Amino acid sequence: ARLKVREALEARELPGADVKVQGWVRSVRSQKEVLFLHLNDGSSLESLQVVADPSLEYRDLTFGSAVEVQGKLLKSLHQKQNVELKAENIRVVGPCDALMFPFKLREKHPLEYTRQFPHLRCRTNTLRSLLRVRSEATAAIHSFFQENGYVHIHTPVITSNDCEGGGELFQIKTANKVKEHEGESHFFKVPAFLTVSGQLHLEVMAGAFTQVFTFGPTFRAENSQSRRHLAEFYMVEAEVSFTESLQDIMQVIEDLFKTATSTVLSRCPHEVEFFYKYIAPAQKGRLERMLKNKFLTLSYTEAVEILKRAPQTFTFKPEWGQDLQTEHEKYLVTHCGEVPVFVIDYPYDLKPFYMRDNDDGPQHTVAAVDLLVPEVGELCGGSLREERLHFLQSRLQRLGLSDTYQWYLDLRKFGSVPHGGFGMGFERYLQCILGVSNIKDVMPFPRFPHSCLL
Ligand code: 4AD
Ligand code: MG
Repeated sequence: ARLKVREALEARELPGADVKVQGWVRSVRSQKEVLFLHLNDGSSLESLQVVADPSLEYRDLTFGSAVEVQGKLLKSLHQKQNVELKAENIRVVGPCDALMFPFKLREKHPLEYTRQFPHLRCRTNTLRSLLRVRSEATAAIHSFFQENGYVHIHTPVITSNDCEGGGELFQIKTANKVKEHEGESHFFKVPAFLTVSGQLHLEVMAGAFTQVFTFGPTFRAENSQSRRHLAEFYMVEAEVSFTESLQDIMQVIEDLFKTATSTVLSRCPHEVEFFYKYIAPAQKGRLERMLKNKFLTLSYTEAVEILKRAPQTFTFKPEWGQDLQTEHEKYLVTHCGEVPVFVIDYPYDLKPFYMRDNDDGPQHTVAAVDLLVPEVGELCGGSLREERLHFLQSRLQRLGLSDTYQWYLDLRKFGSVPHGGFGMGFERYLQCILGVSNIKDVMPFPRFPHSCLL
């Protein structure tokens, strides 16, 4: 029988089952009497130990090579593992030049080094663990929404609007100039961009399904070389109709975080443990604290007061009306005992046009919420949306956007309801639960300024 490494490790019918296992060599060690080999095929973080007769010719059997081993599965005498494979035949499917291979046997490679090889780093235990957690987290997030009555919507990647109004857009051009030859300057007749958020399209759908979500790639031309920004990242977004309170949106965020994280911990405990052990030793206690405690809430105004009283000096002086910087966000999380904290009711002038006006006098605010967490600062951004036609109309008019957003205004004319939603950066979520300090290490193929490898 052909077995995956995981199946072999968990095999019950021992000893002596005849099996064939394929994978990549994680280690090879030759002793006088016996040759030890460890095989991994990605089905398990643990590798399968193979024992072979060293008198056979194994010239190409190096670290990193792809092999097929046929033999008998036996009970292992080692305490560390259940089974081992006694090889009868080893075939090197694809040799690996160990001298040129960027990763070396029994060496710990720093993440910055590993990052230089996006085409090979998935062979390391760190990336293997990360990518399995990423896969399980994706499934857990989808299940959370599906089980709570949300409809999944594929929002477009190509769009003609700038949802966040930040101008951080990648514009789409054709390579073959087809339309330009026909005298048109744009393929779509209008300028088109890669989406910065699926929110506006989700709002459309929330007007028919009440609860909707999307989970797809988003793009931002932010000229930022930070540890928490990518030019291409994945965003989880949800939109809920008949919501009059920001608290309801905050509850969804907290439930999503706690449910998805608990699912990940139960689905891939070894991979998560790997991060606790080798990448972020303090992370285990920190994550338990995040899951156990009720998330806290501060108003933006309270947050600024706390920052002003802080004993430390910031690069950017905290001031009412100014955006919170990463250093401010990190201070607030520490101040809150490393428990995630919602900051709500931001100044009107700081936020995009769609946020609901709190209509609250001189310190004019909107019903916005950001969730701040350890390691990354801002993890989620959301708000109640402006569902009142006249408020929205006058704001768009002042911004010179009423023509662009006729369709969006229409939504406020045909069965408008109070609604709200949020977006969670998926890579920042992974950073937060695993304690990974650089966002480039949680994305399989990271894109950032000056870098688009592969
Ligand atoms: O706060 P943002 O800009 O909010 C929105 O786009 C809303 N339209 C979402 C919504 O309400 N449906 O982005 C949401 C989250 C941020 O909190 C952050 O976690 C992540 O997306 N994010 C990034 N992650 C990685 N790289 C970047 N350049 C990011 N920009 C935002
Ligand atoms: Mg934001």
